[in-house]
Amino acid sequence: MVTLLAKPIVLLGFMGSGKSTLGRQLAHQLRVEFVDLDRQVEINAGISIPEIFAHLGEKKFREIESQVLREALDVQSGIIAIGGGAPCNEINIRLIKQKTVSVYLKISIPELAARLASSPTPRPLLEGKTLEETMKSIVDLLNQRETYYNQADLILESDSITPALLLNALKNFLP
Ligand code: S3P
Repeated sequence: MVTLLAKPIVLLGFMGSGKSTLGRQLAHQLRVEFVDLDRQVEINAGISIPEIFAHLGEKKFREIESQVLREALDVQSGIIAIGGGAPCNEINIRLIKQKTVSVYLKISIPELAARLASSPTPRPLLEGKTLEETMKSIVDLLNQRETYYNQADLILESDSITPALLLNALKNFLP
């Protein structure tokens, strides 16, 4: 049986913060649907995210991402993991605030760098960078993005988060 939540739960945060992994686990525990927005973007475009960046550019990627986010927020009532850049404009963060319970999975910079260095997921914004350059990109992007991430309903220090801790933090928002 699939449960219905009053509002979808959106997991947001930087690349490598575990949104998809935790989201999938939480959805399983709550018996709700799980949506990975990056996968929806790829389905919508018919090509992978690195291919979208390479052939269509970041601007087009952001347009598709925003469109897919709007569609997901209209129909979903489960857990939605969104890409690190998806909440980072005024329109998208407003939609997220209006229509969802949002959780910022906040990860420390050293932990992000370590995870991203060993992640098999290709991420065009960090492609080909040394560890030092990756650290600088993380710091620069977080500086631009935290103003959006910090608007989430819940901000969780998440270096050691587990599905059980996430579930506990969300208990006031669940039916
Ligand atoms: C991006 C994050 C990625 C993906 C794309 C751009 C970003 O998703 O959407 O590579 O701008 O932070 P994850 O946060 O799931 O890695």
